[in-house]
Amino acid sequence: MTSLLVFGNAKGGTGKSTLAVHTAVGLLRQGKRVAALDLDPNQGSLTRYLENRRSFHPNLPAPDILPLAADATSEGLLAAISQLAPNADVIILDTPGSDTPLARAGHAVADTLITPLNDSFLDLDVLARVDPASHKIVRPSSYSEMVWKARQDRFKQDRGQIDWIVARNRISQLGSRNARAMEGVLGDLSTRIRFRQAPGLSERVIFRELFLQGLTLLDLAEAQISYTMSHVAARQELRNLLDAIRI
Ligand SMILES: Nc1ncnc2c1ncn2[C@@H]1O[C@H](COP(=O)(O)OP(=O)(O)O)[C@@H](O)[C@H]1O
Ligand SMILES: [Mg+2]
Repeated sequence: MTSLLVFGNAKGGTGKSTLAVHTAVGLLRQGKRVAALDLDPNQGSLTRYLENRRSFHPNLPAPDILPLAADATSEGLLAAISQLAPNADVIILDTPGSDTPLARAGHAVADTLITPLNDSFLDLDVLARVDPASHKIVRPSSYSEMVWKARQDRFKQDRGQIDWIVARNRISQLGSRNARAMEGVLGDLSTRIRFRQAPGLSERVIFRELFLQGLTLLDLAEAQISYTMSHVAARQELRNLLDAIRI
């Protein structure tokens, strides 16, 4: 059985593509066979990331990736999944930060959906309306509704369930009132719209430096990049996140 692991959020810039590559490499390093599909052909971040990896570090483990056309349909997606599945324990799907037919189709096949969330009430707004004074949840909003629909579609298709995980990303290392308030609201929301919270990742410059060489935090030794304390801490956060995903 191949697990389908989808990275999704209705907002861009939350770390979907970054985390998709890191998770793919983390699972490869655990000995799993990993394939990837880029459902965001306009930006193509996942594709570009893995191209860089192949060009500059051909000896590092990399997932198989099948190109999808910008106008691919859900049939095209299912065909690509069928093609990859016999040789993959896990297929990673990276989706765009917008509601496209391909993004919806990707969500509806997920076994696990991981939503990275910037530590900001502006980003939380796509999950739920929050009362500004009491921080009580007023109602779920657009992206939560899309996931709700994907869960219904998934159940209709094969009685399957989507394990939805929300992980905060780019958390300020300074700690703040905002971060504590976000934690409180996410705790309430997780029981209300049924997701699990995974340990998040701090904001660290290293994440922005790795793309050009197609590297992840799990490759630093082999790529002969010297470690700093910050890299070690970031790698530990990533490992905690991968443990929580439990593939
Ligand atoms: N934990 C982090 N710390 C610092 N920068 C990050 C972190 N995670 C992601 N980034 C940066 O944030 C930006 C958006 O990430 P990306 O993976 O492209 O998001 P998405 O795919 O959701 O649009 C990129 O510049 C990326 O390098
Ligand atoms: Mg992306």
